[in-house]
Amino acid sequence: MIVVADTAALAEHLGPLRHRTDTIAFVPTMGNLHDGHLALVNQARAAGDAVVVSIFVNPMQFTAHEDLETYPRTLHDDLSALRETGVDLVLTPRADDIYPDTSARHTAIHVPVLGDALCGKDRPGHFDGVCTVLYKLFRLIRPDIAVFGEKDLQQLLIIKKMVADLNLPIDIQSGATQRAADGLALSSRNQYLSASERAVAPLLWQTLQSCAAALTATPDCETASIIEPARATLEQAGFTVDYLELREMSTLQLVDRGDQDCALFVAARLGDTRLIDNIQLAASN
Ligand code: PAF
Repeated sequence: MIVVADTAALAEHLGPLRHRTDTIAFVPTMGNLHDGHLALVNQARAAGDAVVVSIFVNPMQFTAHEDLETYPRTLHDDLSALRETGVDLVLTPRADDIYPDTSARHTAIHVPVLGDALCGKDRPGHFDGVCTVLYKLFRLIRPDIAVFGEKDLQQLLIIKKMVADLNLPIDIQSGATQRAADGLALSSRNQYLSASERAVAPLLWQTLQSCAAALTATPDCETASIIEPARATLEQAGFTVDYLELREMSTLQLVDRGDQDCALFVAARLGDTRLIDNIQLAASN
């Protein structure tokens, strides 16, 4: 496994890699890898001839007062895990390599509508940061395939839209959310939870599941009559709910029936930790 710490060295190593393989599959990460990331890497290995992973805590996607400084950085362990998973090349760039212009004049990529709802509303500029860094990484690595987790479903939809709108020749693939045994979606931020918060956290997924079952079983009912009590249950258990919303999958427009191609999205905070999750509802024919 080759590890390159700057974009100049990346170019040197990518040439030979591209020469000896047909398809490069790319998994962008911010490090602190868990089984969710490793499942995406395994998926990339099955999809491509060579796998490239980036580890970069992208400052542009953190809003003011978020956890950029304290975001867990575990490069040594991450590289060991990637080595075991059979990755070909890992890029671990510095921020000033990716963003030579640190002024507010830096170009940003904005995906309107999809990027403005849900987390886009609560974390202004977050998805511009995600799209901008991915556009740069896509330009540097030129992958044929890139793999993203469905836990960040809004992010996945935004990336697909950006890739389509900007004619990027990349097949965007998605991997199912990986969960702890009690249902909590794996996330690097779960480690911020105290023991008592961690005990409550699985209620998020349980709530999504029971809402989805009720919405599918009774498509004619007012969705609010299912979603609002669920929100109250979460709040009573100690969550501060940023959103719990049913939205159409391609446009992210709010919908009021559960029998269409839609997903229920949640973001809720336990103490200082913000958790997100979602469940997709199958369209009935
Ligand atoms: O999902 C993430 O970890 C990040 O948003 C990504 C896609 C690596 C971009 O920094």
